Order: sequence, then structure tokens, then C-alpha cells
Amino acid sequence: EAHLDGDATGLATGEHSYKYRMLEGLVVPPYVTPARLNLSRTIATQPADVCHCSFPKSGSTWLANILYLVLHDGHEPGQGAPLRSHLHWMESAWTYPRTREQVDALPSPRIFKSHMPHHMALAGGPRQSPCRFIYIARNPKDVCVSYYHFESGSAWSGGYDGTWEHWLRLFMDGRVQRGDWLDHVLSWWEVRGEENMLFLRYEDLKRDFRGQLARIAAHVGVQLSPKAVDRVVAASSFSHMRAAPFSNHKHIADFQGFFRKGEVGSWRDRFTVAQTDAFDRLYTERMADSGLTFTFE
Ligand code: A3P
Repeated sequence: EAHLDGDATGLATGEHSYKYRMLEGLVVPPYVTPARLNLSRTIATQPADVCHCSFPKSGSTWLANILYLVLHDGHEPGQGAPLRSHLHWMESAWTYPRTREQVDALPSPRIFKSHMPHHMALAGGPRQSPCRFIYIARNPKDVCVSYYHFESGSAWSGGYDGTWEHWLRLFMDGRVQRGDWLDHVLSWWEVRGEENMLFLRYEDLKRDFRGQLARIAAHVGVQLSPKAVDRVVAASSFSHMRAAPFSNHKHIADFQGFFRKGEVGSWRDRFTVAQTDAFDRLYTERMADSGLTFTFE
């Protein structure tokens, strides 16, 4: 299989096609450029900043929406800039801000987004930056299935055109965009105890939204009134987010979107018994000593 390097932006593998770039040994989307990664790593951050991080398809849009609402007393803007424009995704060459001066000029509190593993994190990550980091992790079988749909979905994704079986192999080998899920999650799990770090799980948000919301609000130093909590709950539901112009991302043409099922356990629609066995063996072995567990149903 050929790999991308430098500024190349297209790839045809022997078996299937999937667009990506190799950056410092990591598979990333072509729009994650060396220049943007460098900017992301070296911007000046402040304690008022918040950066939400995740492996793709782990609930980052959900968390972004919650963060925006928490920082705005539970109110969506009536009209105007959509959620996406409030998230500063430094590693992506698609998005504003593009220069150090533009980043410095953004009003506080700034919300940053990143899909990088810990060693490539914004401003050096929680051990080097005063920014408040929130990592959201999701059980890897649901991530893998969600990512398969997403990457096969539209011109904005990796344009994957292969089979589910082949995708699963890429995922287990750490060859999908953003690399190995285990490396990603476990490296962030390792720094969970840092004062400016909060580690969340998608399944906990599904099970106990209000409890996790309280953790998020406390982490960013916001005290929400009971009414504001109710507003955040209502505006963060799957059905609301999928319908609301603020969060549904429909302004991006030909974009399949971030809202598919929004459930725990949809991996069962794809994984065969044999695939489940192979996956469980690999993941149980590598997760065993971490103390990090997930619910799959
Ligand atoms: P599925 O494909 O399993 O439905 P990300 O935003 O990190 O790309 O993650 C996308 C996943 O989060 C999708 O999973 C999507 O449906 C789910 N999601 C988005 N908003 C959600 C919400 N409000 N509640 C629950 N799940 C949500």
C-alpha cells in the first residue's frame, strides 16, 4: 500500500481507496498539515481556555455543544454563527483561525477542538498548557462502526470505499485516521489526574447526563442555575441537536453529518461473532492493566 507524505492529498491503496496523510508516523486526514500541527502545538493558551479532545466518532460534537451551552448559560444563539464556528480546530487547515495573531485575538473563553493523540496535543497538552482539557472516550466497537459509516459517507471524510471487514482490519491495526484507538485513549487516560484535565466516557453521558454535566460545568468553573441545567439538557438531546440549525451542521454542503444513531451498542449491527472474538482478545489484552473500562450495551 502506498502512503501519503508531505503535501500530497490523495491515496489509492491496492485494495481500497482512503485519503490520508502520514504525519510523524501517524495517519491523519490530508487537511491536518505540518504547518497547522505546528501552530496548534505552539499557540499561547490561558487558564480560561477549554479544549475538548477525542478520537473521532466518540461524541465530540455532543461535548462541543454542551460546552458552548455551559459557557452561555444554556442558551443557543437565536441565529448567526453555527456551533462549528465557535470551535477552534487548530490542527485542521480548513478552519479559521489560520494565524497566531488571529488565535490571540479571539475573545475569551476560547473553545478549542482536537482529535490528536496526547503527544501531539494542543499547546503541549495538559502537562504543559494551563488550558482546561476535556477528553471524551467511547467504547471502541461503536467508534469503529460509527467511523466506518462516517469515512464512507461524503467528500468531507476520508472517502473510504472498502468493505466493513477491511475497515475493521485497518482499525485494529491502527491505520485509520488518527491512528491506533488504544494508543490514543490510553495516552489521555494516563494524564487524567492532571488538575486541568477531565476524562469523560460517552456511555456515562448517555446513562447519567446530569451527573456528567455537573462535572463538565465544575471543570470549566461555571455554576449553572437549575433552569440553565434544564436548558442544556434539552438542547443537547440527540433529536434536538440533529434538528437545530445551530448544531446540525447542515450548512456544510454534502456533509453526512455527525448524527447517525446516537446509541450505545450499534456495533452489533456489524460485528460478526468471529470479529467480536478477535476484537475482544486484542482489546482485553491491551486494556487489562489500565483500569479503564467501557460498557458496550
Ligand atoms: P453514531 O454514528 O454511533 O450514531 P463525533 O461528534 O465525535 O464525530 O461523534 C459522532 C457520534 O456521536 C455519532 O455516533 C453520533 O450519532 C453521536 N452523537 C452526536 N450527538 C449526539 C447526542 N446528542 N447524543 C448522543 N449521541 C450523539
